[in-house]
Amino acid sequence: MYNILGRAVLVALFLSFQFPNLFGQNLIPQPVSIEQIGKTVEYNDFEIKKNTLAKFPWIGRDYFFLAWGTCEKRNAIEVELKLRPRVLGESIEAYNLEIGKKITISAPSENGLKLGISTLKQWHNLHWFEKGTIPHVKIYDYPKFTYRGTHLDVSRHFYPVRFIKTYIDILALYKINQFHWHLTDDQGWRIEIKKYPLLTEIGSKRTETMVAKNFNPYLGDSTPHEGYYTQEEIKEIVQYATDRGINVIPEIEMPGHSRAALAAYPQFSCTQKVQPVPGVWGVFEDVYCVNDSTLEFLQNILDEVIALFPSKMIHIGGDEVPKTRWKECEKCQNTKQVNQLNDVHELQSYFVQKIDAYLSSKGRTLVGWDEILEGGLSPNAVVMSWRGTEGGIAAAKQNHYAIMTPGSHCYFDHYQDTNKIEPLAIGGFTPLEKVFNYQPVPSSLSPQEAEYILGAQANLWTEYMPTEQQVLYMLLPRICALSEILWVEPEKKSSFTQFETRLKQHEPIFERNMWNYRKHEPKNTP
Ligand code: ACM
Ligand code: ZN
Repeated sequence: MYNILGRAVLVALFLSFQFPNLFGQNLIPQPVSIEQIGKTVEYNDFEIKKNTLAKFPWIGRDYFFLAWGTCEKRNAIEVELKLRPRVLGESIEAYNLEIGKKITISAPSENGLKLGISTLKQWHNLHWFEKGTIPHVKIYDYPKFTYRGTHLDVSRHFYPVRFIKTYIDILALYKINQFHWHLTDDQGWRIEIKKYPLLTEIGSKRTETMVAKNFNPYLGDSTPHEGYYTQEEIKEIVQYATDRGINVIPEIEMPGHSRAALAAYPQFSCTQKVQPVPGVWGVFEDVYCVNDSTLEFLQNILDEVIALFPSKMIHIGGDEVPKTRWKECEKCQNTKQVNQLNDVHELQSYFVQKIDAYLSSKGRTLVGWDEILEGGLSPNAVVMSWRGTEGGIAAAKQNHYAIMTPGSHCYFDHYQDTNKIEPLAIGGFTPLEKVFNYQPVPSSLSPQEAEYILGAQANLWTEYMPTEQQVLYMLLPRICALSEILWVEPEKKSSFTQFETRLKQHEPIFERNMWNYRKHEPKNTP
């Protein structure tokens, strides 16, 4: 790994023309305020002060190398990072960025400093080829929402550590601060759990993957698909994300979407039947059996997960749980009776409450898909609203925090256009403009209830994303639109046309990094 500490030199910038009058006009998301002081500054190069490096060791972990390359030093301009007191009522993620004789980023938190660096990095990415002078400016900036998320399903298709880092680089560039890592599902268990080695030995492998949408008759590709992250790799990713101001939320699916785990440990299913890791998509009847030994198994898994992920929020899935097996299972019926539960929905609620209590006892907060509302919401649970916005509204009205990720606007596995040349996707239609027009706070909430909407998240389910390039195609540029709506106050939001103009300037960034993306053609282009 490149270590900047030894060199304290970052980069060479070759600025070859006068910067636009309005500094930072192409940034995404748009900063809260940019004040141009007028005087211009000439420089070619950035240099981080040695004492700044000593104080913030995460800078040394190749962050700036990624930002500015390895060119040789020329007339350096100093970059200084300063933690400052938080102004009363100020966002903990606020930052000041001043570009003058030196560059200063000051913020009330390390994450604020990282967001300031992200702005500087994006600005540099937009202008890396230019040379000359820049106006002396001051930026003051902070986000509208505290939760700015993007999810990635690595179960349906597995992607290597290198790619996860690329994904995180993109999120950081657009100030997304939560990476929701969907690590387990029916078609693959992707996290090493030392106490239960079969989870990865058996659960991380399937013999084939469905071709296109050929359910009936079933057509597999006859190609095995496998992969998982070792605990060392998980730590590396968590550190990489943390260095860039991103929290990683692991998702361990339960009680449904658990066929890969049950292929390895069938004793925790209702039928105890040995079944393979499925090579088809869908929702399966076999789920975890609700009894004490299953709960112990899952708590042991969560112990290892908690040790790997410092995230306060731990996602336990909870979606799409058929109750068929529970209705016929002696053990489940016994749990229902002993705990005086009225029906199988209350049985699911019982299960979630047990896991919630366990996570709470470890100082963590349970997050689940909106099905966890059914049968009664667990005391500390955060709801992720995916079947529309109703789940988020119901949660907020019960004074529970909610994250909005409705299929209609936030599912990036949906098509971006109705043309015939789009690559195969699961369905739906979520073009860029629809994402840009999304407003995460439902109008039906009172101002007090609205406080419970933490933010929103894009979901990338990867049934039809077999390659890294396809994941990026579905992410870019829609993530830019999501970034904008999560950062900017609705009343300060630009027009979509103005956003399109800014976005055009970001396409060369995607190209230079070899990030595949969907080229956006503005409607108003002559
Ligand atoms: C989901 O899309 N099943 C949460
Ligand atoms: Zn059962």
